[in-house]
Formats: sequence, structure tokens, C-alpha cells
Amino acid sequence: MYLRSCKSSVMIIVKRRRIFFLLLVIIVFIVVIFEWHSDQSSVRTFPTKFSERDYVSFPVFQENTINHITRIWKPTKSRARVFDMVEDQLVKSECVLLDTPNGTTPICIYDPSNDRMISSYVKDYGTWEHDLLNATGSVFLRYPELSFFDLGCNIGVYTLYVAKLGGHVVAVDAVWTSLSLLHTSVKLGHFQKRVTIIWNAVSDVYENVTVEIPPSNVGGAHLVSKKSTDSSDFTNLVETVTLNDFIEFFKSKKVFMKMDIEGYELRALRGGQDFFESVDVRYILMEWVHHRYNDNGNKIIHILLPYGFLPYTNINQHIMLNIDRSNTWPENVFWIKR
Ligand SMILES: *[C@@H]1O[C@H](CO)[C@@H](O)[C@H](O)[C@H]1NC(C)=O
Ligand SMILES: *[C@@H]1O[C@H](CO)[C@@H](O)[C@H](O)[C@H]1NC(C)=O
Ligand SMILES: *[C@@H]1O[C@H](CO)[C@@H](O)[C@H](O)[C@H]1NC(C)=O
Repeated sequence: MYLRSCKSSVMIIVKRRRIFFLLLVIIVFIVVIFEWHSDQSSVRTFPTKFSERDYVSFPVFQENTINHITRIWKPTKSRARVFDMVEDQLVKSECVLLDTPNGTTPICIYDPSNDRMISSYVKDYGTWEHDLLNATGSVFLRYPELSFFDLGCNIGVYTLYVAKLGGHVVAVDAVWTSLSLLHTSVKLGHFQKRVTIIWNAVSDVYENVTVEIPPSNVGGAHLVSKKSTDSSDFTNLVETVTLNDFIEFFKSKKVFMKMDIEGYELRALRGGQDFFESVDVRYILMEWVHHRYNDNGNKIIHILLPYGFLPYTNINQHIMLNIDRSNTWPENVFWIKR
């Protein structure tokens, strides 16, 4: 009797194991199907898949030679420096195609293994921050007379996108190498008449600052306000200007501004009183993620409200954000002048 019951309980255990195993197989199967399906739909969002993209290779420069490149710029009436380049210093880099509603345009990128965020994504999908680009584009298609002020342009995704839609752009960045890439993209797209490239950082004081570039993410380049006396630091040194130095570029124009300067937004706005009083800025697309959890958010709000700007989640849906709860705002905010 004892033996029999023992045997039957062994059988039950064996059966249970089988059922358990079967369940496991079913669960794994469901997970695999689900993953496959979501993979398919994410590919569908970006129809230009990596393998289907056309590649173009144009002469630019090797990144490891960049520190030996002579830096030249054209002076302006203000302190802003218009980027210039010694053409015979061009060597080789990769340029891929950026998608816009008006067809594709070449964009020269960093080696994706050195720039895992933007260059790598642009190479694979032909776009970056697709929803924000789309929102920006829809404004330019509606108001083609706007000028675009791309503050923190990086390799120029927004600049080239807007230029391809026929807009005029002033593109600013502190990182010389990114501007060299953009300079080539502008030439390849024949946008020389529409795009002005400026090599400066933007702040509320005039000084020399050091640009720090995180490993594998040039888009995360940010400024460190330290006076360097060490001349070997020269490669990452950049001079700041204020927004007021850009007034001459936007006289009697309506402006769409994009600010993505990695936490320096507040200082840039503080130094821009004359700019906001004499230039008709209609839209500001601002990266908010750096300001969410510190007091800079409130300070930015109190600079922009008196100029007539109100914050929105989206340029089309017109959902206004709650001024008192800026810590709940999304990663990017549209300020629209009312
Ligand atoms: C933005 O996306 C919408 C919906 O996908 C599309 O109809 C529209 O043409 C796009 N606009 C731009 C400027 O890309
Ligand atoms: C679209 O691109 C073509 C050539 O690439 C250009 O001739 C045309 O002006 C562009 N459209 C707009 C609205 O700028
Ligand atoms: C920055 O450094 C350069 C070269 O050392 C110098 O000529 C220039 O005056 C400095 N600019 C400021 C604002 O300190």
C-alpha cells in the first residue's frame, strides 16, 4: 500500500513536470512571437532600414587628423565666428542620407563606433528624433519665411532637414569637428547660400571654455567653465559669445530657435536680453531634461514668460504645460510666442 501510493505520487510529480515543461515552451514561444512582432513594427516606423539604405562616400577628413587642422573663421560685426575651412585639408569620412519630406540629403557622420548615439542612429535609420523633426518640419512647411537658429547643431540633423525644406539656417556649435562634418554636408546639399555655420559656445559672459566630450557620444558634449592656461588644451577650447551677438543674422526676420546645449540654456537666455527684444523669435524647441529636477527650470520659465512664450508638449496639438509643475514636463518642450 505504502509502495503503491509512493509510486503514484512519483507519477504525479513526473506528470507535473511535463505540464510545467509544456507551459514553459508555450511561454517562450509567445515571448518570441511578441518580440518578433514588436521588432517588425519598430522597423515599420522607419521605412529606411539599414540594409536598404544607399551609402555615399565623400571626401571629408580622418578624425584622427582633426587636431592638426588649422582653424580659420570669418569675422563678423559681432564676436560670432563664421566657420571656415581650408579645403585641401579634406580627407575621408562617411556620409549617409538623411530623410526629409522633400527627399533625402547627404549628412556626414562620425564613425558610428565613436559616436554611438546620433551618428550611429542616423546611419541606421536616416533620421534622429523623428517626432521632433517632423514637428519642426511641419512648422517650416506652414511658415516658410521663418529662419532657423540651430543652437547646439551637432552634425546638423535639424540644420540639414530645415535647409532641405528651403529654410535659412544659422547653425552654432562648440565642437569644431562636428562643424567640419556639417560644412561638408552643406556643400554636398548645395545649401551654402542658406546655411551659416558658427563656431562658438553661447553663454552670458565672454570667456574661453573647455568642451568635454563623453566617450562615444559627441552629442553629449558640454562646456566646462574653466580657464585653461595649458596650451595643449587648445583643441577643446572655444570662445563664448552671447545671444546678442546673433542679432545681426536675424534682423527683421521671424525665428524658430532650437536649443540643445546640454544645460547651458539658462546662461544663454540670461545673456540674450537685447536679442529677445530685437529679434522676433516665434518658437523655441528646448531640451528640458536637464532642467526638470533643479531650479534652472523655474529660472528659464521666468525669463521666457515675460517675452510672451508659453510652454507646450507638441507644436501641433497645442497642449499647454502646467507652469507650476515643470518637473513633470517631457524631455523636450516647445515654447510658442502668443
Ligand atoms: C509628419 O508626420 C505626419 C504623420 O505621419 C505626416 O502626415 C506629415 O507629412 C509629417 N510632416 C513632416 C513635415 O514630415
Ligand atoms: C526640395 O528639393 C529640391 C531639390 O532637392 C529643391 O529644388 C526644392 O526647392 C526643395 N523644396 C523646397 C520647398 O525647398
Ligand atoms: C581666449 O583665448 C584666446 C587665445 O589665448 C585669446 O586671444 C582671447 O582673448 C581669449 N578670449 C577671452 C574672452 O578671454
